[in-house]
Amino acid sequence: MDIKKLTAKEKLRLICGKDFWHTEDFGGKLPKLTVADGPVGLRVVKQRAADGSETAYPATPYPSVQLLANTWDRACARKMGAALADDCLERDVDILLAPGVNIKRTPLCGRNFEYFSEDPLLAGEMAKAYILGLQENGAGACLKHFCCNNLEYDRLHQSSDVDERTLREIYYVPFEIACEAKPVSVMCSYNRINGTYGAEYKKGFVVLRKEFGFDGAIFSDWSAVRDRTASLKAGLDLEMPFCEENYQKLCKDFEEGRIAEAELDACAERVLELISRCKEMREGKKPRRSEAERRRIAQEIAAEGMVLLKNDGTLPLAAGARLAVAGCYAQPSDMGMLRGAGAAAVNREGEAFSVPGCLEKRGYAVTFEPAFSYDGIDSFHQDAHRAAELAAESNVSVLCVGLGEKFERESADRETLRLPLVQERAILASAAVAPTVVVVFAGAAVDMSAWADKVSAILFAGYPGAGGDEALASLLSGENNPCGRLSESFPRSLADCPAAREDGISAGVTRYAEGPDVGYRYYSTHHVPVLFAFGHGLSYASFAYRDLTAEADENGVSLSFEVCNTSERAGKEVAQVYVRACAPVVYRPARELKAFEKIFVKGGGCEKVSLSLGRRAFAHWSAAEDGWRVSDGAYEILVGASSEDIRLVRKVWIKGGRFSLFPL
Ligand code: GLC
Repeated sequence: MDIKKLTAKEKLRLICGKDFWHTEDFGGKLPKLTVADGPVGLRVVKQRAADGSETAYPATPYPSVQLLANTWDRACARKMGAALADDCLERDVDILLAPGVNIKRTPLCGRNFEYFSEDPLLAGEMAKAYILGLQENGAGACLKHFCCNNLEYDRLHQSSDVDERTLREIYYVPFEIACEAKPVSVMCSYNRINGTYGAEYKKGFVVLRKEFGFDGAIFSDWSAVRDRTASLKAGLDLEMPFCEENYQKLCKDFEEGRIAEAELDACAERVLELISRCKEMREGKKPRRSEAERRRIAQEIAAEGMVLLKNDGTLPLAAGARLAVAGCYAQPSDMGMLRGAGAAAVNREGEAFSVPGCLEKRGYAVTFEPAFSYDGIDSFHQDAHRAAELAAESNVSVLCVGLGEKFERESADRETLRLPLVQERAILASAAVAPTVVVVFAGAAVDMSAWADKVSAILFAGYPGAGGDEALASLLSGENNPCGRLSESFPRSLADCPAAREDGISAGVTRYAEGPDVGYRYYSTHHVPVLFAFGHGLSYASFAYRDLTAEADENGVSLSFEVCNTSERAGKEVAQVYVRACAPVVYRPARELKAFEKIFVKGGGCEKVSLSLGRRAFAHWSAAEDGWRVSDGAYEILVGASSEDIRLVRKVWIKGGRFSLFPL
């Protein structure tokens, strides 16, 4: 559609959305776009009550984004995007409002379950693959929330105060990498960034477009626009949902000359381009995967992303063992226990979820006692003491604990990192009488320090989607070999996390005083021990790293090394490559993830891994030069199985911009 065919009035209307979920179509003069949440399953609203509460159609639930990130597998992200595209095509949705890539600055953030990681590279790479999968199968993506939406506290108003270097090295990077997949849209954040509302963040929008190559349309978050004229001038193309008051003021400002036609055209053209691009993207596309196949994808991703945090050999469970399964999460009465609340919630009506049932199918003798409920202990329906008795009579106690939408939700942050007391007590009671395997269903880091050293094994199960109970049972029984790795650090205590110590300048400002020291960047640099490190995850196999070779030239360093499976059991390993500047000219964290690869290695076998580190892998953002700078000096390349488990090291030297290797 040529913009010349639209009147000024139509252009003003076009950039304000039609209603809650559609763009304006002028009675069929333009195609109408339909948008819908969310990152882990389609939330197409069936009805919206007067109080704003919404009922969505049931949809295929996929693993939480955090569980997807724990796979460290770009192929899983691409598969999930592809399956979601099929859901969108079926429901006639043009744009899925996903993925969310905000950095997990504090483990308390209520929306961490729908974000990828504390590390910008991992978040960006997984989001890029997710967007590729979505868009190549016919549905547009909406990369969100740009930017610094890293807490839910006062989310519509509070200002994230971040220095430019930290923005560039941490908070922008997931968007920079994900934009390589050419998402059709980006959604702004509600919060302010250094005092400017996300909907009016012109400086950021210019970086997106001029430096990150973003060529789509910028949406507002829902009702994030306070001044449509100011947001238009900043370059925000589409306000959602339609707001009569904002629209009237916009028209008045245009009529009174406060908006130039060229400014209006710039936004209207990008909305027209969005419409035609989405229609083209969908042209001729039909769902390629049956619902059963999509559900199988959800189950496969869950099995890839669940993380074995601790294991004294109790897992995998011995065949035919007597198991005391306890905890209401093992057989949830309310599927809200297996998800976070808000825009990312999926209606899982009719979903069955039974860990006891899945274990019984695998030949185990299983007793089950809820022991506690989502709200504590309802003594008429749960019996914590009986759970301990059953544990005492079993070979192994499998305790299913967790959080859920009461604790993890949009618009509120968590109050604590710990599990509810009734759950901690159930764990300790079980550990006192039997080898205890704790399965944690949560969407973010949990402080396990009160009980982790008293149990035999811990499996972090995230918020699994369809088939999550089968995925879990397949890992507990040894049918599948766990291969997930943590995409965020699990601190020993909230007090250890720099962001959680934020004192704030005022009620409305959150100072990112820790700068680039986010997550493992802080813990490893300042030698703060964590419970489980970023990148950590155990397997039923064991891996050794050897024969690191490197070649350096003017463009960077090419690495290759071998990962050998020293067990007889096949398994997958996530090889991680970090870089450390030995004597930097500015402050730099002791290590930063710069490459990773997930590989399958058969029992007793070895696989060669080849990765390359370009100049940017050694660069820092220079506030003095307002650009990326590779400083001369010595750098270490650290290859390992987690941010705290480094296996191979090689030093490189940069002089005059040229790379050379230190002699071995
Ligand atoms: C919400 C969320 C955003 C979501 C949108 C539409 O408030 O912040 O992630 O896509 O509104 O529901």
